[in-house]
Amino acid sequence: MSASYTRPMLPAGTFSGRTIAVTGGGTGLGRSMSEYFSALGANLLICGRRSEVIESAAQEISAATGGQVLGLSCDVRKPEEVEAMFAAGAERFGTLHGLVNNAAGNFICPTERLSYNAFNSVVDIVLKGTYNCTLALGKRWIAGGTPGVVLNISTTYAWTGSGYVVPSAVSKAGALVMVRSLASEWGKYGIRLNAIAPGAFPTEGAWSRLRPPELGPNADPMKRIPLGRHGEHQELSNLAAYLLSDFSAYITGACITIDGGTWLRGAGQFNALEDVTSEQWDDLQAAMKRKRS
Ligand code: COA
Repeated sequence: MSASYTRPMLPAGTFSGRTIAVTGGGTGLGRSMSEYFSALGANLLICGRRSEVIESAAQEISAATGGQVLGLSCDVRKPEEVEAMFAAGAERFGTLHGLVNNAAGNFICPTERLSYNAFNSVVDIVLKGTYNCTLALGKRWIAGGTPGVVLNISTTYAWTGSGYVVPSAVSKAGALVMVRSLASEWGKYGIRLNAIAPGAFPTEGAWSRLRPPELGPNADPMKRIPLGRHGEHQELSNLAAYLLSDFSAYITGACITIDGGTWLRGAGQFNALEDVTSEQWDDLQAAMKRKRS
């Protein structure tokens, strides 16, 4: 039997009659989450920049789950494309109920090597793309008097910061503050906004960009994960589905970390003592005992 965390969690039909939009839903974690929402009965609107990738993802998800899936090419940096995407989604499915701001762009680079355009490219996708989508759908919900739910895929360095991914860190921090701000401002409209900060969940795109083998063992994330394993896509999908569903109706403005304890391992002042061997501890404790007596 598979471990319980790799099993789908929510009851069948949780999203029946609901439509959920996922930016960047054609690949990676966006694709995994989308497939699960569809399996739970959602109509899906997924978008990505490459039309052939998004269209074949839509067909594959629909074939796997039997659900309705509309795959549209859309560059979230462009408000007019975002508006057109939601208009097409509304035409096909009627009211849209949920949005997952998942589309992202990132690369590792010493900050002083970045051009202004490199910085802008990431900010435009991650921060502006997130507010373009949130604003476009939020306006529709408010005008139509319909409740809605937004989920941002964030990161723990949205609050710790991180070197070598500064444009992404700045953007994710801004997007998280937007979630918290709007959770307060738009609660009166029945709109909830939350975020997830995932740790290491292997995907082809992110891992080849952010952990290239050329970096050597320094990039081995396993060494920094207290729970000693990477995340499974299903456990992230379970959390995402919960936060989009009515089961979490009283949760808004939250950011839930799902990283096996990784960011705390990096934060704790003495956590590097993890590398001290058992024999070294024996010697150390004996020496301290001698000092006390
Ligand atoms: N290091 C330094 N600069 C880089 C870079 C890198 N690894 N990759 C791109 N850039 C710079 C480019 O040189 C360019 O700047 P310039 O015009 O001053 O030379 C700028 O960033 C834009 O690059 P470009 O490839 O034209 O932009 P794009 O809009 O097509 O791509 C990115 C956007 C840069 C975010 C790209 O990595 C991307 O499309 N990623 C999508 C997928 C992704 O990152 N997913 C997230 C996985 S975690």
